[in-house]
Amino acid sequence: MNSVDIGTGLFITLEGGEGSGKTTQGEMLNRYLQDLGHPVVWTKEPGGTDIGQALRKVVMSNRHRDMVPETELLIYLADRTQHVKSKIIPAIAEGKIVISDRYHDSSVAYQHFARGVPMDTLDFLFQRLAGGLVPDITFVLDISPETAMKRIEKRSISDPGSLSKFEEEARSFHRKVRQGFLDISRKAPGRVKVIPADQAPDKIFGQILDILTPLLPPTTSGDTNS
Ligand code: TMP
Repeated sequence: MNSVDIGTGLFITLEGGEGSGKTTQGEMLNRYLQDLGHPVVWTKEPGGTDIGQALRKVVMSNRHRDMVPETELLIYLADRTQHVKSKIIPAIAEGKIVISDRYHDSSVAYQHFARGVPMDTLDFLFQRLAGGLVPDITFVLDISPETAMKRIEKRSISDPGSLSKFEEEARSFHRKVRQGFLDISRKAPGRVKVIPADQAPDKIFGQILDILTPLLPPTTSGDTNS
């Protein structure tokens, strides 16, 4: 653990814009690590807890397009605070591997870089409310807004009405989000690894494993995985 030493587990986050394939990678990683014998909690933000599920509906609904950026940030932080304190920290303290589909870097990319909420506001609230827990490793699945929009449009044809208010945002918004994630990785190159997401899922997964394998704790059976 970087900033808060809470136990022997590992905290992995997956980040990236809409349509970057985070959920597919999370699913593959969850299965792979469980097959190796690791206790794994695969979770997400927003919505990794019951309270978070309710908050997710409010913050992502396209009925709430008039939500101001500060309200949006506070909802994500409420979700994160509940998630970290009731689920992530207890799991890490028990030695589990936690994989979270999005975490605080999403607030930095979306609410700071794209929506313009000042960084010191985010930092203050994250530290004071959510405890400032820093992941051990973060994978940013990087994709151009053009490619991502094509993937999302395909889904919206087969499932009309499925788009969230974020997916309906202009391309300029998604460009800012992408630049935000790239900026985060430039500032924390040891923790945040950028993986090009316009590749086949197996290739992306291979690149994630190359980076992750040396960080894995021994399995409960006492075997190492490296
Ligand atoms: P997803 O579950 O499909 O990834 O969607 C979550 C949406 O919420 C996505 O558009 C990104 C957005 N989001 C933020 O704007 N800030 C945050 O802190 C988080 C966790 C997500």
